[in-house]
Amino acid sequence: MHVIHTQNELVETLKKLNNIAFVPTMGNLHDGHLKLIEEALKKTNLVVVSIFINPLQFNSKDDFKNYPRTLDEDLLMLEKLDVPFVFVPPKENIIDSLQTIEIHLSDIANDLCGRFRPGHFNGVATIICKLFNLIQPELAFFGRKDFQQLFLIKELVKQLNYPIHIIAIDTVRDKNGLAMSSRNILLSEEDRKRAPQLFELLNVMKDKVMQKKLSFKEIEEDADRLLNASGWIVDYLTIRSAESLKTPVHDEKQLVILGAATLGSVRLIDNIEFCIQD
Ligand code: PAF
Repeated sequence: MHVIHTQNELVETLKKLNNIAFVPTMGNLHDGHLKLIEEALKKTNLVVVSIFINPLQFNSKDDFKNYPRTLDEDLLMLEKLDVPFVFVPPKENIIDSLQTIEIHLSDIANDLCGRFRPGHFNGVATIICKLFNLIQPELAFFGRKDFQQLFLIKELVKQLNYPIHIIAIDTVRDKNGLAMSSRNILLSEEDRKRAPQLFELLNVMKDKVMQKKLSFKEIEEDADRLLNASGWIVDYLTIRSAESLKTPVHDEKQLVILGAATLGSVRLIDNIEFCIQD
């Protein structure tokens, strides 16, 4: 496994290589990341995994400071998977001290998580563009757990004409349904047991949508009340079009229910995508 620390070394190493698959991460690797990497390795043996905790996408200094950092364990895991290239740049190597240029995504970036984390997705898009420019992959892998991120990256690739195929990988869950996330290790033991409630509630909301007895607004309000009453602080629990991420128009079939809520001091997100039958 070749661990690369600078952008010059990265460009030099990848110069003559084609058909690269790229898996961007912020480290603290878990089974969700490993699934992305395994899927990438099925397509090509030229896989680049990046590990970079991107300061541009954090809107709280504490959140950035507390983000789990486990580089040694991460590298061991990647070694076991036989990943050929890992890019681990120091901040100064990839973010200019005078970084005044940023990608500004469309309005949907200011909705859902963007409403609670202003500038977050512009920060994600900026680092992803830098990494795409340096690595020039043919394929890039993103998880469906970050549904809004995946949606915006697909838009970015389309609107900025990157010749990159974005591959979406299903969320990996604990046996109890909890979506794998780097933030899960920040949960107390007690909260870790309660955390699957979020996905359970998304499933209840889905069942209610399928039953077609209540309006979407009633379903959302009931869910919000229930989760807040169980000690969570809900940012949003909302039913959207899976195609536009906007409020579904009449008779729209491809839906996604997205939720974000804080348990203890840990903000978790999850979603469930489905199709309504007639
Ligand atoms: O999903 C993440 O871990 C990050 O947002 C990403 C895509 C690696 C960009 O920093």
